[in-house]
Amino acid sequence: MKVIVCKNYEEVSKESAKIVADVMKKKPNAILGLATGSTPEGMYAELAKMNAAGEIDFKDITTVNLDEYYPISPDNDQSYRYFMNKNLFDKVNIDKSRTNVPKGDAPDGEKEAERYEAYVRSLGGADIQVLGIGRNGHIAFNEPDEELVPVTHVTSLTEDTIDANARFFASAADVPTKALTMGMGTILSAKKIIIIATGANKHDAVAQMLKGTCTTKCPASFLNLHDDVVLVCDEAAYNG
Ligand code: GLP
Repeated sequence: MKVIVCKNYEEVSKESAKIVADVMKKKPNAILGLATGSTPEGMYAELAKMNAAGEIDFKDITTVNLDEYYPISPDNDQSYRYFMNKNLFDKVNIDKSRTNVPKGDAPDGEKEAERYEAYVRSLGGADIQVLGIGRNGHIAFNEPDEELVPVTHVTSLTEDTIDANARFFASAADVPTKALTMGMGTILSAKKIIIIATGANKHDAVAQMLKGTCTTKCPASFLNLHDDVVLVCDEAAYNG
């Protein structure tokens, strides 16, 4: 795994945007795998700036997001669909019909997971997948467990993740307890992966991942199976 340690959040945002932009410049119809969470917000702002400046073009880009709460309406301001529209899709020249987020309002979650997996696979996987990391080492909503699931599936969130995400909701009781998420194999099918981490509260998860081994107790550690992964992090996440 290649590691880029930046001074601060701003540098992490610029550096990671540059990596995504490079893929878009080389392949104007690239498939971008995208992530939510507070960490990539700055990166999306940088990408929007580059788009406004005419440096990158989203016209022929397709996107596939990692995950979505379940059940949740796309109009709910805490849904990941809402987040993506607000932070990126509404700010760039993307064709919204080519932006994909698992449907949190699908009547049957299992069927939606199957549909989404088949769709991502039909695209041949993402050209680049952006990932954040949970403080417990989760990626997308693949939580630490005895076993991990390879394909897109419905999952239950851990108490730790509900607690971490409660800051966005009125209270922890309002955080959905389930989610639709790409599985470990879906994520690893991306040609290139960039994982971004900032803040000392991510240090333990980052350190576990950087050991270079794989444990289901830290789903991010499975990125060690992929041969084109870049970690972009700040000094706090790297050093603790
Ligand atoms: C959520 C998302 C993850 C994200 C993680 C970290 O649970 N499902 O994709 O990486 O939280 O979020 P943050 O960047 O806000 O710390």
